[in-house]
Amino acid sequence: MPDRRKFLTRAGYTTLSALLTMGFLQKDKQKEDYSINTIAANSTRMNVNSPLREVAAAKGKRYGAAISGEFLQTDKDYANLIARECSIATPNGELKWNATEPQPGKFTFESADAIANFCQKHNIELHGHTLFWHTGNPDWVSYPPTFEMIERHVKGVMGHYRNSKVLKSWDIANEIIADNENETDNATYGLRKGVKPELIRDLFKIAASVDSSKKFYLNDFGIEGATWKSDRFLKMVEYLKNNGAKIDGAGIQSHLWFSTAYPFDEKGFNSVLKRLNDLEVKPIITELDIIIDTPLPDSIKKLDQMVADSYKRYLDLCFAANVDTVITWGLTDRHTWIRHPDWMPAKFRGNPSNQRFLRPLPFDENLQPKSARNAISQAFQQAT
Ligand code: XIL
Repeated sequence: MPDRRKFLTRAGYTTLSALLTMGFLQKDKQKEDYSINTIAANSTRMNVNSPLREVAAAKGKRYGAAISGEFLQTDKDYANLIARECSIATPNGELKWNATEPQPGKFTFESADAIANFCQKHNIELHGHTLFWHTGNPDWVSYPPTFEMIERHVKGVMGHYRNSKVLKSWDIANEIIADNENETDNATYGLRKGVKPELIRDLFKIAASVDSSKKFYLNDFGIEGATWKSDRFLKMVEYLKNNGAKIDGAGIQSHLWFSTAYPFDEKGFNSVLKRLNDLEVKPIITELDIIIDTPLPDSIKKLDQMVADSYKRYLDLCFAANVDTVITWGLTDRHTWIRHPDWMPAKFRGNPSNQRFLRPLPFDENLQPKSARNAISQAFQQAT
């Protein structure tokens, strides 16, 4: 947005109408029209349709999405929409272990580099996801991987992006906390079976030895409230802080599933955000998408409004607690992961007629803005 228009937006109408009345800003109609109607139209147009990246930037924040290299190549409208709306982007799969080191010591970065080049072309920051996960690994990688596997992988992948102009942050470890106490052999930190806290500490330390210029996150889901999992996630963040690991942020994935069956735990979520801020580990919203479970409303229009209201409520809480980065897990329902049979919630898998209600993202399958997008825009605009 040209500097002059930024000034106009910030100045506000009252001042401008006074200046216009005093003739200070009367401009040659042929060149630039500062009439209040044009300003209002422009401002309205900027407010309602301004790219989310601009609305976020106006508040010193970033908005982005998970993106797929395949669709960047094959779907130009999608690529253009990403470029217009996003100031940060996470590769959907191109920086996972099976994409970057398919064979021991053999690194492949073509698909990730293509995304990095797209990001550089469109001034989009790239978020690295992820160096350590229990899935998305080639068959030769055990879980947990051995120290030697981890050291070679981190040095190879982080080394490749050390001087990247766009990659500024990493999910050093992803989803290391088990889903419940039956799936861990570690009562304190609830780590997945076989994972020791020392291994995660060493992972973060190896990463810092390769490239401490990037921001390092621990990323997980199911921690958007006071849960068994969020308690252990926070304990693990504190363990890393107290044991010499560089941890800058906590990725709160935010795959939100709202329903009357389990209302959102606002109080618990606020306590998670507060704990992270007290630990000086910035809360980052890394994979936000929102689905409304059954009972479903009787129309898509109502569903979209419920999703939009949920986005607004969630982001208001985030922005009240120092969150400055919001990444949705995709930009358009056209490519949402949650419509894929492998990942679709069981209640929808068993009921194909309900799948049209899987509309978790800001843009619909025709790349048209939804009320969710306007809700996200409003949340950024109202952020203090
Ligand atoms: C998902 C991708 O979106 C899918 O395309 C892929 O098949 C599986 O992984 N949490 C994460 C992401 O950290 O990496 C996952 O992404 C979604 C859940």
